[in-house]
Amino acid sequence: MTPLPWPSTPPAYGSVVLREFTEADVRLALELGEDPYVPLIGSLPAHPTRQEAEAWVRRQQSRHAEGRGFPFVIDVAGTGVGTVGLWLRKLSEGIGIVGYSISPEHRRRGFASDALKAITPFAWTVPGVERIELYIEPWNRGSLRAAEKAGYRREALLPAHQEIGGFARDMLLYAAP
Ligand SMILES: CC(C)(COP(=O)(O)OP(=O)(O)OC[C@H]1O[C@@H](n2cnc3c(N)ncnc32)[C@H](O)[C@@H]1OP(=O)(O)O)[C@@H](O)C(=O)NCCC(=O)NCCS
Repeated sequence: MTPLPWPSTPPAYGSVVLREFTEADVRLALELGEDPYVPLIGSLPAHPTRQEAEAWVRRQQSRHAEGRGFPFVIDVAGTGVGTVGLWLRKLSEGIGIVGYSISPEHRRRGFASDALKAITPFAWTVPGVERIELYIEPWNRGSLRAAEKAGYRREALLPAHQEIGGFARDMLLYAAP
């Protein structure tokens, strides 16, 4: 797929600014890789070596050029605290899918909610996006709450919808209003 243009003004909300990955984000990758859940929902290996973390950062950097979406680092005052992505694998159906993770040491400070509030208006500007979806496991209180704080609405429980960690997991589908 041809890449859509990167936003000329970085999406922002509150104290968070969404920016491109840089080599320095290996530190963020190493932190995220220590979380028990983050490696299950993406391509970052659990407890990554420095090399694995560097390779993951490079993969994030290449995804935009490949037309797969917009991988952002969530930056707060110059520190990468997490990642949020707008993924376009269902763009032919008019759907953008948002996913996010916050480094364990930066949680419970509103960064996930603010990152969602920053990426959502940007996602609506992407040509072809007519709907924005989130998929969240029912136990994931922090993620459900962040979605609701950003105005997303729960639409459905999708039984055994997605394989995570070797099991077909139920997912709650949320959509932007
Ligand atoms: C889920 C996650 C993104 C939340 O990030 P965060 O920056 O801590 O979330 P916020 O600080 O914006 O919190 C949003 C709300 O959820 C609440 N919350 C956050 N973590 C919580 C938890 N573990 N249990 C209960 N509530 C929680 C916060 O208190 C806040 O609610 P409030 O304003 O009413 O107090 C983070 O825990 C994470 O990265 N987890 C692992 C990866 C993951 O689950 N990604 C999402 C996949 S759908």
